[in-house]
Amino acid sequence: MPRDNKTALIQKIAKQAFITFKGFNYSANEDNEVFADKLNELISLVSSVRAADLKIAPRKCKPSSGAAGREEPPVTYMHICESDVFSMGVFLLRTGVSIPLHDHPGMNGMIKVLYGKVSVSCFDKMEDSLTVSPAPPCFDPPLAPMQKSSVWRSKLRSITEYSEPSGPCLLTPMRDNLHQIDAVDGPAAFLDILAPPYNPDNGRDCHYYKVLQTVADKAVDSEEQQEETKEVYLLEIPQPEDFWCGGEPYPGPPVSM
Ligand SMILES: [Fe+2]
Repeated sequence: MPRDNKTALIQKIAKQAFITFKGFNYSANEDNEVFADKLNELISLVSSVRAADLKIAPRKCKPSSGAAGREEPPVTYMHICESDVFSMGVFLLRTGVSIPLHDHPGMNGMIKVLYGKVSVSCFDKMEDSLTVSPAPPCFDPPLAPMQKSSVWRSKLRSITEYSEPSGPCLLTPMRDNLHQIDAVDGPAAFLDILAPPYNPDNGRDCHYYKVLQTVADKAVDSEEQQEETKEVYLLEIPQPEDFWCGGEPYPGPPVSM
Protein backbone atom coordinates (compact mmCIF):
# COMPACT_ATOMS: atom_id res chain seq x y z
CA MET A 1 0.00 0.00 0.00
CA PRO A 2 1.48 3.40 -0.94
CA ARG A 3 2.24 5.50 2.09
CA ASP A 4 1.77 9.26 2.48
CA ASN A 5 5.21 10.13 3.80
CA LYS A 6 4.11 13.56 4.98
CA THR A 7 2.18 12.06 7.87
CA ALA A 8 3.38 8.95 9.68
CA LEU A 9 0.86 6.12 9.77
CA ILE A 10 0.95 6.07 13.58
CA GLN A 11 0.00 9.76 13.60
CA LYS A 12 -2.95 9.00 11.31
CA ILE A 13 -3.98 6.18 13.63
CA ALA A 14 -3.83 8.51 16.64
CA LYS A 15 -5.91 11.13 14.88
CA GLN A 16 -8.50 8.57 13.78
CA ALA A 17 -8.66 7.02 17.29
CA PHE A 18 -9.37 10.47 18.71
CA ILE A 19 -12.08 11.17 16.10
CA THR A 20 -13.63 7.74 16.63
CA PHE A 21 -13.79 7.65 20.42
CA LYS A 22 -14.20 11.31 21.42
CA GLY A 23 -17.42 11.54 23.43
CA PHE A 24 -17.83 7.76 23.27
CA ASN A 25 -21.01 6.49 24.89
CA TYR A 26 -21.56 2.77 24.52
CA SER A 27 -25.37 2.75 24.60
CA ALA A 28 -25.57 5.69 22.18
CA ASN A 29 -22.86 4.39 19.85
CA GLU A 30 -23.87 0.76 19.72
CA ASP A 31 -26.04 1.05 16.58
CA ASN A 32 -24.70 4.33 15.32
CA GLU A 33 -23.69 4.20 11.65
CA VAL A 34 -21.48 7.28 11.92
CA PHE A 35 -19.55 5.66 14.76
CA ALA A 36 -19.31 2.40 12.78
CA ASP A 37 -17.85 4.26 9.79
CA LYS A 38 -15.24 5.97 11.97
CA LEU A 39 -14.39 2.69 13.66
CA ASN A 40 -14.02 0.92 10.32
CA GLU A 41 -11.62 3.63 9.14
CA LEU A 42 -9.59 3.13 12.31
CA ILE A 43 -9.58 -0.65 11.84
CA SER A 44 -8.39 -0.18 8.25
CA LEU A 45 -5.48 2.04 9.35
CA VAL A 46 -4.52 -0.24 12.25
CA SER A 47 -4.67 -3.31 9.98
CA SER A 48 -2.00 -1.82 7.74
CA VAL A 49 0.51 -0.94 10.46
CA ARG A 50 3.71 -2.98 10.55
CA ALA A 51 6.62 -3.15 12.99
CA ALA A 52 8.80 -1.14 10.59
CA ASP A 53 6.32 1.77 10.72
CA LEU A 54 7.08 2.05 14.45
CA LYS A 55 10.83 1.41 14.05
CA ILE A 56 10.43 -1.82 15.99
CA ALA A 57 12.37 -4.91 14.97
CA PRO A 58 11.71 -8.45 16.17
CA ARG A 59 13.98 -9.37 19.05
CA LYS A 60 15.71 -12.61 19.76
CA CYS A 61 14.55 -12.87 23.34
CA LYS A 62 15.47 -15.56 25.76
CA PRO A 63 12.48 -17.14 27.48
CA SER A 64 11.23 -15.25 30.50
CA SER A 65 13.11 -16.32 33.59
CA GLY A 66 10.06 -15.76 35.80
CA ALA A 67 10.07 -14.32 39.29
CA ALA A 68 13.70 -15.28 39.88
CA GLY A 69 14.94 -12.98 37.11
CA ARG A 70 13.25 -9.73 38.01
CA GLU A 71 15.87 -7.68 36.21
CA GLU A 72 14.33 -8.79 32.90
CA PRO A 73 10.62 -8.09 32.78
CA PRO A 74 8.50 -10.66 30.93
CA VAL A 75 6.61 -7.82 29.27
CA THR A 76 7.83 -4.39 28.14
CA TYR A 77 5.57 -1.45 27.37
CA MET A 78 6.50 1.38 24.99
CA HIS A 79 4.21 4.31 25.63
CA ILE A 80 3.29 6.22 22.45
CA CYS A 81 0.63 8.69 23.59
CA GLU A 82 -2.31 9.17 25.94
CA SER A 83 -5.22 11.60 26.25
CA ASP A 84 -8.60 11.53 27.99
CA VAL A 85 -9.97 9.84 24.86
CA PHE A 86 -7.50 7.00 24.29
CA SER A 87 -4.08 5.59 25.08
CA MET A 88 -1.74 3.89 22.66
CA GLY A 89 1.45 1.89 23.10
CA VAL A 90 3.32 -1.25 22.15
CA PHE A 91 3.64 -4.38 24.29
CA LEU A 92 6.65 -6.65 23.77
CA LEU A 93 6.24 -10.20 25.07
CA ARG A 94 9.15 -12.53 25.70
CA THR A 95 9.04 -16.15 24.58
CA GLY A 96 6.53 -18.19 26.56
CA VAL A 97 5.04 -15.19 28.34
CA SER A 98 1.35 -14.58 29.07
CA ILE A 99 -0.38 -11.35 29.98
CA PRO A 100 -2.72 -12.79 32.60
CA LEU A 101 -6.49 -12.65 32.28
CA HIS A 102 -7.59 -9.06 32.99
CA ASP A 103 -10.45 -6.67 32.28
CA HIS A 104 -11.00 -3.24 30.69
CA PRO A 105 -14.05 -1.81 32.53
CA GLY A 106 -16.15 0.46 30.33
CA MET A 107 -13.42 0.53 27.68
CA ASN A 108 -12.86 -0.31 24.02
CA GLY A 109 -9.67 -1.96 22.91
CA MET A 110 -7.76 -2.86 19.79
CA ILE A 111 -4.74 -5.16 19.51
CA LYS A 112 -2.67 -5.41 16.33
CA VAL A 113 0.22 -7.87 16.21
CA LEU A 114 3.46 -6.34 14.87
CA TYR A 115 5.61 -9.47 14.96
CA GLY A 116 5.37 -13.00 16.27
CA LYS A 117 2.13 -14.70 17.15
CA VAL A 118 -0.24 -14.37 20.10
CA SER A 119 -3.22 -16.38 21.26
CA VAL A 120 -6.00 -14.22 22.70
CA SER A 121 -8.61 -15.84 24.96
CA CYS A 122 -11.67 -13.59 25.32
CA PHE A 123 -14.20 -13.73 28.13
CA ASP A 124 -17.23 -11.75 29.25
CA LYS A 125 -18.79 -11.55 32.67
CA MET A 126 -22.44 -12.46 32.67
CA GLU A 127 -24.55 -9.60 34.00
CA ASP A 128 -25.47 -9.40 37.66
CA SER A 129 -23.33 -12.36 38.54
CA LEU A 130 -21.06 -11.11 41.28
CA THR A 131 -21.84 -14.16 43.34
CA VAL A 132 -22.30 -17.73 42.30
CA SER A 133 -25.76 -17.99 43.81
CA PRO A 134 -28.29 -19.50 43.56
CA ALA A 135 -26.58 -22.79 42.73
CA PRO A 136 -22.80 -22.47 42.87
CA PRO A 137 -20.89 -25.47 41.56
CA CYS A 138 -18.31 -27.32 43.60
CA PHE A 139 -14.86 -25.95 42.80
CA ASP A 140 -11.67 -27.98 42.82
CA PRO A 141 -9.93 -26.94 45.01
CA PRO A 142 -12.81 -25.56 47.10
CA LEU A 143 -13.08 -21.79 47.58
CA ALA A 144 -12.40 -20.11 50.90
CA PRO A 145 -15.57 -18.43 52.26
CA MET A 146 -14.13 -14.95 51.69
CA GLN A 147 -13.42 -15.73 48.02
CA LYS A 148 -17.05 -16.39 47.17
CA SER A 149 -17.84 -12.69 46.74
CA SER A 150 -15.01 -12.42 44.15
CA VAL A 151 -16.38 -15.03 41.77
CA TRP A 152 -17.96 -14.10 38.45
CA ARG A 153 -20.09 -16.34 36.26
CA SER A 154 -18.63 -15.74 32.80
CA LYS A 155 -18.45 -16.93 29.22
CA LEU A 156 -15.38 -17.98 27.29
CA ARG A 157 -16.12 -16.28 23.97
CA SER A 158 -13.20 -17.33 21.81
CA ILE A 159 -9.57 -18.39 21.62
CA THR A 160 -7.94 -16.98 18.49
CA GLU A 161 -4.39 -16.72 17.20
CA TYR A 162 -3.17 -13.47 15.62
CA SER A 163 0.03 -12.77 13.70
CA GLU A 164 1.40 -9.90 11.62
CA PRO A 165 -0.99 -10.29 8.63
CA SER A 166 -4.05 -10.58 10.94
CA GLY A 167 -6.48 -7.73 11.39
CA PRO A 168 -6.84 -6.28 14.89
CA CYS A 169 -8.46 -8.09 17.79
CA LEU A 170 -11.27 -5.88 19.15
CA LEU A 171 -12.97 -5.55 22.52
CA THR A 172 -15.84 -3.34 23.70
CA PRO A 173 -17.32 -2.57 27.13
CA MET A 174 -19.81 -5.41 26.60
CA ARG A 175 -18.07 -7.85 24.27
CA ASP A 176 -14.78 -9.74 24.73
CA ASN A 177 -13.91 -7.30 27.52
CA LEU A 178 -11.67 -9.69 29.47
CA HIS A 179 -8.72 -11.36 27.83
CA GLN A 180 -5.55 -13.32 28.33
CA ILE A 181 -2.76 -12.89 25.79
CA ASP A 182 -0.18 -15.65 25.30
CA ALA A 183 2.97 -15.38 23.16
CA VAL A 184 3.04 -18.42 20.85
CA ASP A 185 6.23 -20.01 19.42
CA GLY A 186 8.57 -17.14 20.34
CA PRO A 187 8.56 -13.45 21.23
CA ALA A 188 5.75 -11.21 20.02
CA ALA A 189 4.80 -7.54 19.93
CA PHE A 190 1.48 -5.80 19.45
CA LEU A 191 0.11 -2.27 19.17
CA ASP A 192 -2.49 -1.64 21.88
CA ILE A 193 -5.17 1.07 21.79
CA LEU A 194 -7.52 1.58 24.75
CA ALA A 195 -10.43 4.03 24.64
CA PRO A 196 -10.90 5.55 27.12
CA PRO A 197 -7.63 4.74 28.95
CA TYR A 198 -7.47 3.02 32.31
CA ASN A 199 -8.25 5.52 35.06
CA PRO A 200 -8.92 4.17 38.58
CA ASP A 201 -10.39 7.54 39.61
CA ASN A 202 -13.15 7.02 37.04
CA GLY A 203 -13.85 3.35 37.78
CA ARG A 204 -11.52 2.04 35.10
CA ASP A 205 -8.94 0.09 37.11
CA CYS A 206 -7.42 -3.16 35.84
CA HIS A 207 -8.47 -6.35 37.65
CA TYR A 208 -6.93 -9.79 37.26
CA TYR A 209 -8.75 -13.12 37.20
CA LYS A 210 -8.19 -16.82 37.03
CA VAL A 211 -10.49 -19.48 35.63
CA LEU A 212 -11.79 -21.74 38.36
CA GLN A 213 -12.01 -25.43 37.78
CA THR A 214 -15.15 -27.16 38.91
CA VAL A 215 -15.45 -30.77 39.95
CA ALA A 216 -17.68 -31.25 36.89
CA ASP A 217 -14.91 -29.87 34.60
CA LYS A 218 -12.64 -32.69 35.64
CA ALA A 219 -15.25 -35.23 34.62
CA VAL A 220 -15.58 -34.10 30.98
CA ASP A 221 -13.13 -34.94 28.25
CA SER A 222 -10.58 -32.47 26.90
CA GLU A 223 -12.46 -31.96 23.62
CA GLU A 224 -15.44 -30.59 25.47
CA GLN A 225 -13.14 -28.34 27.50
CA GLN A 226 -12.14 -26.53 24.27
CA GLU A 227 -15.73 -25.71 23.36
CA GLU A 228 -16.14 -21.99 22.73
CA THR A 229 -18.69 -19.78 24.48
CA LYS A 230 -18.72 -22.19 27.36
CA GLU A 231 -19.71 -20.99 30.79
CA VAL A 232 -16.88 -20.62 33.27
CA TYR A 233 -16.34 -19.09 36.70
CA LEU A 234 -13.67 -16.44 37.19
CA LEU A 235 -12.08 -15.57 40.51
CA GLU A 236 -10.74 -12.02 40.88
CA ILE A 237 -7.13 -12.23 42.10
CA PRO A 238 -4.27 -9.82 42.85
CA GLN A 239 -1.84 -9.14 40.02
CA PRO A 240 0.14 -12.40 39.58
CA GLU A 241 3.65 -12.14 41.06
CA ASP A 242 5.35 -13.53 37.96
CA PHE A 243 3.79 -10.86 35.75
CA TRP A 244 5.08 -7.34 35.65
CA CYS A 245 5.76 -4.81 32.97
CA GLY A 246 8.96 -2.89 32.30
CA GLY A 247 9.14 0.27 30.23
CA GLU A 248 11.23 1.35 27.25
CA PRO A 249 11.13 4.48 25.10
CA TYR A 250 9.05 4.19 21.95
CA PRO A 251 11.52 4.47 19.02
CA GLY A 252 9.07 5.35 16.26
CA PRO A 253 7.91 8.60 14.71
CA PRO A 254 6.56 11.08 17.28
CA VAL A 255 2.80 11.49 17.71
CA SER A 256 1.32 14.86 18.57
CA MET A 257 -2.02 15.04 20.33
FE1 LIG B 1 -5.75 -5.98 27.78
